[in-house]
Amino acid sequence: MNYPNLNEARKRTKEKVEYCVNDYAFSSIFQGKKYFLRTYGCQMNEHDSEEMKGILEFLGMSPCEDLENADVILLNTCAIRENAHDKVFGYLGRIKHLKEERPDVIVGIGGCMSQEESIVEEIHKRHPYVNFVFGTHNIHELGNLLIDAKEGEQDILVYSKEGEVYEGVKYKRDSSITAWVNIIYGCDKFCTYCIVPYTRGKERSRKLENIVKEVQALKEEGYMEVTLLGQNVNAYGKDFQDGTEFSDLLEAVAQTGIPRIRFVTSHPWNFTDRMIDIIAQYDNVMPYIHLPLQSGSTSILKKMGRRYTKEEYLELYQKMKKKIPGVAITTDIIVGFPGETEEDFQSTLDVVETCQFDGAYTFIFSPREGTPAAKMKDDTPIHVKEERLYRLNERINFYSKMNNEKLLEQVVPVLVLGVSEKDSTKVYGYTDTMKLVNIQASKDTIGSIIPVKITEAKSFSLDGEYQIENT
Ligand code: 5AD
Ligand code: SF4
Repeated sequence: MNYPNLNEARKRTKEKVEYCVNDYAFSSIFQGKKYFLRTYGCQMNEHDSEEMKGILEFLGMSPCEDLENADVILLNTCAIRENAHDKVFGYLGRIKHLKEERPDVIVGIGGCMSQEESIVEEIHKRHPYVNFVFGTHNIHELGNLLIDAKEGEQDILVYSKEGEVYEGVKYKRDSSITAWVNIIYGCDKFCTYCIVPYTRGKERSRKLENIVKEVQALKEEGYMEVTLLGQNVNAYGKDFQDGTEFSDLLEAVAQTGIPRIRFVTSHPWNFTDRMIDIIAQYDNVMPYIHLPLQSGSTSILKKMGRRYTKEEYLELYQKMKKKIPGVAITTDIIVGFPGETEEDFQSTLDVVETCQFDGAYTFIFSPREGTPAAKMKDDTPIHVKEERLYRLNERINFYSKMNNEKLLEQVVPVLVLGVSEKDSTKVYGYTDTMKLVNIQASKDTIGSIIPVKITEAKSFSLDGEYQIENT
């Protein structure tokens, strides 16, 4: 049994990153079995699930939609906020009943929650029917864990590692049009509210040539878009200590000629001018940046350990707007951080009024056990925090709609991804600025970038018509 340990996970030694190649365990005992996989949380987790699916299908399994029909049940969990925890424990209740009826079902819990020692203890003691717990550093060992689970013992395999970099990952990608590509794992920023540096280990970059090869291969397979993934993409290359930075990677990826390139997430702290220039220079680097603000108050930013002031954020924001034509910028904001006063909150609203973001994810601060902010004095009543969130969301939605309305009657390029969920006579896709559009167009357009005339603008989506070109 390997238990995680948050204090261990905090350590950042000078030990070199290990670069490894996957060698997945194989056994034919799972041939023809069904798996059910549920994913919580961010894009990183979605992409990790694509690796889990790759391993399950390598073992001969196929997916199923109903928990009740599954031979293997996996939950890929998220630790970032309390409600993510609650959802997983709610689900475990359902799984418990199922295990009573069918004890041979194998249940595994992976993802960020598995990296928290208190959670693992709780699963170990209160949910003994869970066959195995595996962390974000152990996904490649999933095959072995499944094979062991057949023997019937509860297995806990979660290292508090700084982490390695694995190549040769078997992904079963959800889309054949857009693909996620990991470029950097982990995070060394240790923002005081955030659990990620503990659950995901230290910042470690994949080698540039391996990333470019992966993008090249995706392009050859017909993929139209890649999203370069990292907790903080602009820390890319810092661990090589040879001067390589994110802009070098972005340029190399742009030169593969894949039609669309995106990246998430960018920390405002080390976003260089060269990064801005490369985004502006290459047509296939999309004019869209997710730039988390977290707070507009310099004193709260300091307590958050964010490494920038309100003014520095605004300066960077204006520079991006000026240098990248038509760029859309979205953000993340936390309200009710310990000690946040009405005046601090007004500073956040002030930044929102100045930046007029294209969109934002907004959250109430949630104390995460083991992080410094969880120990800070927090005397703002929850109803005040909720009211701040409400007021913030009103302004966010106003600007989101306003920015969408600017596109009315314009013809914009949209990458069509599939049939619209709400209306099966329509298709949906995204503009280069990452705005969702529902389009009156045939299914033949799926997978192509088409010109779309925007006919209606709402807060969270647009409607449009395919402008068939006369040539
Ligand atoms: N409480 C509330 N929101 C949080 N986030 C991260 N940690 C917390 C927390 N403890 C938010 C941040 C981050 C986004 C992914 O989740 O805004 O950018
Ligand atoms: Fe968390 Fe900050 Fe790292 Fe983002 S940069 S993952 S908020 S510690």
